[in-house]
Amino acid sequence: MKKYSKSGAYPFHMPGHKRNALLYDGTMPYEIDLTEIDGFDNLHNADGCILEVQSLAERLYNVRKAFLLVNGSTGGILSAVRAMTNRGDKVLVARNCHKSVYNALELCGLNPAYIVPNIDNNFGINTSITPEQAESAIKNNPDATLLIITSPTYEGVVSDIEEITKIAHLHNVRVLVDEAHGAHFPFSKAFPNEAVQSGADVAVTSLHKTLPSLTQTALLITNKEELIEPLAENLAIFETSSPSYVFMSAIEKCLEYCQNQKAFEEYIIRLNSFNEKCKELKNIKILGYGNDNIKNHSFFDFDISKLTVSVRGLGISGTQLADRLRNEFNLEPEMVCSDYVLLITTVCDTQDGFERLINALRIIDSECSVKELNIPPINPKVPRLALNPSECYGRVGAFTKLENSINKISLEYVWAYPPGIPIVAKGEVITKEVVNAVKEQTESGISVYSTKGRVPEEIYCII
Ligand SMILES: Cc1ncc(COP(=O)(O)O)c(C=O)c1O
Repeated sequence: MKKYSKSGAYPFHMPGHKRNALLYDGTMPYEIDLTEIDGFDNLHNADGCILEVQSLAERLYNVRKAFLLVNGSTGGILSAVRAMTNRGDKVLVARNCHKSVYNALELCGLNPAYIVPNIDNNFGINTSITPEQAESAIKNNPDATLLIITSPTYEGVVSDIEEITKIAHLHNVRVLVDEAHGAHFPFSKAFPNEAVQSGADVAVTSLHKTLPSLTQTALLITNKEELIEPLAENLAIFETSSPSYVFMSAIEKCLEYCQNQKAFEEYIIRLNSFNEKCKELKNIKILGYGNDNIKNHSFFDFDISKLTVSVRGLGISGTQLADRLRNEFNLEPEMVCSDYVLLITTVCDTQDGFERLINALRIIDSECSVKELNIPPINPKVPRLALNPSECYGRVGAFTKLENSINKISLEYVWAYPPGIPIVAKGEVITKEVVNAVKEQTESGISVYSTKGRVPEEIYCII
């Protein structure tokens, strides 16, 4: 791309910046922001340099087919769900799936049945989906055609995809794994096994989340020959027809980087040394680190790259912890929840970064003490589905006071973080338990969100 840019070729084509690198004080990479000109292949029908990058991804992820994604895992999830289902199909969905999965259900006119993960009592987060839960969901829904699971979760909790897939395949149910947070799994034995290697039919993984790549870059991977064409057809619908060459070259650079085994070995050494130092912490808990033994959680497996730093029961909130990390120590977390902050580490984190973090945690830890814990358990019961999410589309509702919404059909999602599962989803009937859960969670400081943004005061529902 750089060579072409210097070749003197005049661009009577898109993009409109005409590769003028001096525009806007030279802050944008315009010289290499090319388009599908001669010699630069076409993402939607790759047979040249883009195919080479795809082949590299296929080799590294050990899969039959890898599609480059430039619209994030979101585009991959929408495409995969549509490619793997027919309108009206029954789909088994882990209740802690990302909103892109819920949006896919709505767009593809699917009929969801949910599998609710258990909650880990110490950290308040979702545990793995177990093979027994998957089996019972399949048996209760013999017409289901697809099972969708998030593994790893945001916090790094991994499910037994191998066993779950075996059970699903016995009943002719396909398995799609949202592995958005697991793009680094193939590059060290210290990480859990990848979903497709464990038998999943399709997985989607965000390179940009846990590997050195540009935001929005991701991969859609499969070993199933018969799914390649439907996946490609749907990517042509959900992905832009003008894929960014800057993004695609970032994918190439990232994949080349990941072949550097030494970089990952050194990263694991940094994580292990951080783990040792965490043992000094007396009050703050870090999931799977220091004095917190991962074996005490009912997880099938766990990704050590995630640091879930909990201040549950210490009299400070996750927001206060994040504010201190940010304001006093200049450390910016990935996500802030009511009683924990989530920090993402990657192969690009430095020893200095880890030192700064442990020093900050040591200071905050020394100022905390254990207080009484009063956190109401989340009610994991899924409300009755009255309308499929797609039947809610276009329905006119009204914002209704929370306490007046009982027995009405919700036209939005309401969820609490933690554990990040909807208390009520679009098309479900609001119950007294839902209203109580929203009130109790809000009162105890758990963050409750809704699609339309007015919860906890009002909820958008059919009146
Ligand atoms: C579990 C999970 N799946 C999918 C996505 C969507 O990924 P992307 O941002 O790459 O579109 C996210 C984003 O945060 C996520 O956390």
